[in-house]
Amino acid sequence: MKILGIETSCDETCAAVVEDGRRVLSSVVATQVEIHRKYGGVVPEIASRAHLEALVPVIAESLEQAGARMGDIGVVAAVYRPGLIGSLLLGLTAAKTLAWLHDRPLVGINHVESHIYAACLERDTLPLPCVSLIVSGGHTSLYYSDGPWQHELLGATTDDAAGEAFDKVAAILGLPYPGGPSIDLAAERGNPRAVAFTRPWLSADSLDFSFSGLKTAVLYHVRGQGAGVKQRVTNLSDQEVADVAASFQECAVDVLVGKTLRAAESRGADRIIVGGGVAANRRLRARFLHDAANAGVEVILPPMPYCTDNAAMVAGLAYHYAMAGKFAALDLEARA
Ligand code: KG4
Ligand code: ZN
Repeated sequence: MKILGIETSCDETCAAVVEDGRRVLSSVVATQVEIHRKYGGVVPEIASRAHLEALVPVIAESLEQAGARMGDIGVVAAVYRPGLIGSLLLGLTAAKTLAWLHDRPLVGINHVESHIYAACLERDTLPLPCVSLIVSGGHTSLYYSDGPWQHELLGATTDDAAGEAFDKVAAILGLPYPGGPSIDLAAERGNPRAVAFTRPWLSADSLDFSFSGLKTAVLYHVRGQGAGVKQRVTNLSDQEVADVAASFQECAVDVLVGKTLRAAESRGADRIIVGGGVAANRRLRARFLHDAANAGVEVILPPMPYCTDNAAMVAGLAYHYAMAGKFAALDLEARA
């Protein structure tokens, strides 16, 4: 069965066609990075308008790349929560309209669940049960996952999401928007041991996260080197910026990898799934592969394009909802 998935929870307009929950026939992403760059972050109202313009061409492109017409599509799926409410409304309304017009069932998808499912694409069997870490701009959560939508929360951030910390630290260091990929790049030239930022482990057996103190520690470290925040940032040499970026990244990665392995051990899981935009981080991927191998745990990292927001993970997950007869009514409401 071919499913058309639509994802508009934040600042990427995405549509994809996936067959039987795993074979990705197309995955189209129209990014709004250029539009939001001058504001240094996503402006919700502008994001909604950009989705409105991009949705119809992106859906058409996803069908064309898949060599499919609406008549070949068995189910239409869209993310309905969580995310920016105006953005969610656009993708969900497009999906409802197509479902109604072509008399197809509708599936509503939770964005976080779909990030976990990204690791299941292009695989013959679902890699479950496992411990799942979702690290994105809006979430940093650990789950024990026992089915496509059975996710028991083990721990979550008590303040900032990891991606938010990457983005804010990049801004403090004067690195270009979007911040996460800029830190990843700058850190390559830096010394991860240059600055010994305190690892926010919280209590000994806690599976919760906290990144706001680390972000503040970076700010104070930078502020300590000159006269005024902006002035000091420009006073940092390229090498100092790279060193701070690498030291911050190593600190965040230590905690993300360490707590995920701790969760796997405490639940007796021999498999870990990592998803969300920060899962595209090269140091995080390398450390997961290395440390999990040492612990005798398998780690599944989705290919980069399925880490950041995309609709293939939505259409893939929707297959399992459809097989279980879990359809949504056309009055399904978007939820922030
Ligand atoms: O999953 P995603 O595309 O959207 C949300 O659901 O939030 O994640 C976006 C987040 C942003 O904070 C972005 O800076 C971060 O993922 N990100 C990265 C990298 N690529 C994206 N963070 C660190 N290293 C990267 N390479
Ligand atoms: Zn996301």
